[in-house]
Amino acid sequence: MLPLRRRIVLPLAMLLSLFVLLLLKSDNTTPGFWKQLGKQDAGSSRPYSKPVITDPTVLNDDSYFWRKRPTRHPVASLRSFPTGKPLALPKVQASFPKENASDKQLRLQRQKAVETAFMRCWTSYSKHAWLQDELTPLSGGARNPFGGWAATLVDSLDTLHIMGLHGEFERAAAAAANISFETSSLEQVNVFETTIRYLGGFLAAYDLSGDPRLLKKAREAGDMLYAAFDTPNRMPVTRWDFGKAAAGGPQEAADWALVAEIGSLCVEFTRLSLATGDARWFDASERITDALRAQQGRTQLPGLWPISVNPRDGVFTADNTFSLGAMADSVFEYLPKMAALAGGLLPHYRAMYEDAMATAIRHNFWRPMVPDEADILISSSVHTARDGATGAFTPSVERVGQHLVCFAGGMLALGGRLFRKPEHMEYAKKLVDGCVWTYRAVPSGMMPETFAMAPCPPPSSSATDDRACPWDEAAWKRAVLREAGAGEDADADDFASRADAVIRERRLPRGFTAIPDARYILRPEAIESVFVLYRTTGDRALLDTAWDMFSAIQRHTETAYANAALADVTGATPPQTDSMESFWMGETLKYFYLMFSEPNLVSLDEWVFNTEAHPLRRLVP
Ligand SMILES: *[C@@H]1O[C@H](CO)[C@@H](O)[C@H](O)[C@H]1NC(C)=O
Ligand SMILES: *[C@@H]1O[C@H](CO)[C@@H](O)[C@H](O)[C@H]1NC(C)=O
Repeated sequence: MLPLRRRIVLPLAMLLSLFVLLLLKSDNTTPGFWKQLGKQDAGSSRPYSKPVITDPTVLNDDSYFWRKRPTRHPVASLRSFPTGKPLALPKVQASFPKENASDKQLRLQRQKAVETAFMRCWTSYSKHAWLQDELTPLSGGARNPFGGWAATLVDSLDTLHIMGLHGEFERAAAAAANISFETSSLEQVNVFETTIRYLGGFLAAYDLSGDPRLLKKAREAGDMLYAAFDTPNRMPVTRWDFGKAAAGGPQEAADWALVAEIGSLCVEFTRLSLATGDARWFDASERITDALRAQQGRTQLPGLWPISVNPRDGVFTADNTFSLGAMADSVFEYLPKMAALAGGLLPHYRAMYEDAMATAIRHNFWRPMVPDEADILISSSVHTARDGATGAFTPSVERVGQHLVCFAGGMLALGGRLFRKPEHMEYAKKLVDGCVWTYRAVPSGMMPETFAMAPCPPPSSSATDDRACPWDEAAWKRAVLREAGAGEDADADDFASRADAVIRERRLPRGFTAIPDARYILRPEAIESVFVLYRTTGDRALLDTAWDMFSAIQRHTETAYANAALADVTGATPPQTDSMESFWMGETLKYFYLMFSEPNLVSLDEWVFNTEAHPLRRLVP
């Protein structure tokens, strides 16, 4: 099976529409590179102006397998990270007043509960699936869908460190130092997944601990990934033939790629260049950014890139589906994150973020009609179609929400603080409220993978409209029938009783018109955004929100060994399935833990999280 990023798993309908759409050398390191980078705050961890490297081969060992692979298409001139002093960007975190003793005690109890849940999983992984990609949480076995390089171990390294489990961290780091990227359990390696999980995991663990073995491992993963860029136009092969590349065969980028997979390598690649002083990775991902920037205003929905693009020909404008969710997500998420990482030295990322958000706010965000008339927003896919008369592209929004897109609230909160855009904070709150609302509305307390809702009556469904959105029970029931495919009869006299039957049979909570994919697979995006909103606003009510989410998830997903994905969250006792992706311990539990930590533990003013929740050190003055 292909390793598919959690945010990339396609709902069937999207897959179908995608298929329809488809018819249509250099090792020039810069000595002294980090000397220019300035020192970090006296804070939790080491500055990266002076990495503690006792083993000189960490940074200048050129004998590594992937480094020795002959380059067929060398880079003529390598672009280095700008040399200026990082700027002081606006503060991302809110100021937190001192909490009283009872609040503190409750918070620490909750934090302990998260740590206990993590330790149970870690112990089972150590015992039953050590060095494998995943533990199977019902049968106590193991699976290797991510190359067989111990994905869960690498994803968990920084969580162990953050939780202060230093003995376990040391044991895991020693084992991680032994992982070999010279062979793989897969014929086809997903470059994006490997970047965010492994490269991101090693870099964050290095940034937190200063352990040079982990930087060395990051560099090895980076050397492997860099080989995927050895193509005529230096665009990477995103679904990569590992054996062919290892044998030094010719490569060309495909004429089709998901925009998330090609467009969100920049955070990890840039951090690796900063940490090693070797500009190759930064150069490689900036070439992709150049192509994105040049075409951002020329797509069918200017400001956003479509979900599928053509790296072989460098064309990023042809497709007509636009989403902040599955298949695109992190290409947008990484815009403010690059700005944060680079300490203001790469201003184009801010410009790209602002252009993208202006379009998404206008076209992708909408207000659903819900029984308590809550003022919440959902971000959905937009399809464009050419108007026969005018030739212009007309957008239409699909009224479907996804768990995956819940990261968007956190993205807007980060952008809102970093670029002083208070209106982005407002959208962030409403998007997070939308996710929280959905968790609460489902009786088991978790959001399904995808769901449909009805919009407020026009024109008040747009994100920029403040008008009331009164609940209309009959309109909801008609929308349920339309979603169920009974469009013609949605207005017949007996519509209400027929809708009631559908609502009962499909267990639709009031407000939902369909639940096409009822799974919850231990995903992090909702708690990720609740966490970022908490750190950026200081709103203590979010602590209770997070606790309710954690309690529901823990209650339903706990197994004899660890935690399991759920097949259908709409019932009172959701059935479990034998899967626990590495992001449960790498992301979901890390965000829950940080939610209940002191706000300066992994402060957003010093760190930026990659899309796999691996915190990387920001450049700060
Ligand atoms: C602690 O602060 C909370 C508000 O954060 C307040 O509700 C509570 O009454 C306070 N408890 C004590 C013992 O002061
Ligand atoms: C690393 O690999 C070697 C050789 O396979 C093995 O002897 C050693 O125990 C491993 N170390 C760790 C910490 O796993």
